[in-house]
Amino acid sequence: MTAKLINGTEIREEILKEIEAEVKEIKEKHGKVPGLVTILVGENPASVSYVTLKIQTAHRLGFHEVQDSQPGDISEEALLALIDKYNKDDAINGILVQLPLPKHIDEKKVINAIDPDKDVDGFHPVNVGRLMIGGSELKFPPCTPAGIQELIVRTGVETSGAEVVVVGRSNIVGKPIANMMLQKGKGANSTVTLVHTGTKDLEGHCKRADILIVAAGVPGLVKPEWIKPGACVIDVGVNRVGEKISEKTGKKVAILRGDVDFDAAKEIAGSITPVPGGVGPMTITMLMKNTLKSLKVKLGIA
Ligand code: GUN
Repeated sequence: MTAKLINGTEIREEILKEIEAEVKEIKEKHGKVPGLVTILVGENPASVSYVTLKIQTAHRLGFHEVQDSQPGDISEEALLALIDKYNKDDAINGILVQLPLPKHIDEKKVINAIDPDKDVDGFHPVNVGRLMIGGSELKFPPCTPAGIQELIVRTGVETSGAEVVVVGRSNIVGKPIANMMLQKGKGANSTVTLVHTGTKDLEGHCKRADILIVAAGVPGLVKPEWIKPGACVIDVGVNRVGEKISEKTGKKVAILRGDVDFDAAKEIAGSITPVPGGVGPMTITMLMKNTLKSLKVKLGIA
């Protein structure tokens, strides 16, 4: 392997330790800890497991964590009233409504009901606007793009003036990370190209990338010969391509593959994220960072 492996699990630990230390300091000086409510509607197994991880991480960091599980048939009106309650709750700095929601609930209405200053997911249109403006306007970068930027910065990859190519135009990853990388400032100031399913010459664009960020959800979409030698490759794809029996637990587990052919790409790239263990561990970490930031803003110490 020639590329440096960007180890998301190790970088997550580094950041969590920093957050833990900051939480302790703020508690000593101000007598406050970040408050996060996780609202889970129904029992979607993937959502249950994500929310469980979020709760465990918040506890580990010494946050005030409120776990609010609601039945799958809760009315939209009742869910909106619940959000309003947490909007007004002084001990809560971050409100997380786990998505997707059941079909009878309008997700947009729910996201729009969250106080933008407690929207630690960064999904509210006000926070999307703040991200677009950038600089001191930015409050809560969405968690996966924020994690990608941290990985790039902590790997020591130069972003200023770099050609960044983003593959995929989702609202959660592609559009926000493209916007974040073109802003002035640390870990950004790049020349950004966003490519998508309508792009004519995907290969040609990818070949020019100093930093290639792939969030298309298509296993093995990016071929090794599309990678510029020495480029930084961030693979956001988490595609289930089959099942296997885990050697550790003896239980069935999903076989995950990224959007990049990792085994071949690692011989060409300068640095690369694995799947799993690259971008994945960063998302919850950045949710915690946003919740801490929300408290710091409130205390006037951000
Ligand atoms: N479901 C899958 N990912 C996410 C996320 O980042 N935030 C929320 N709220 N729901 C999700």
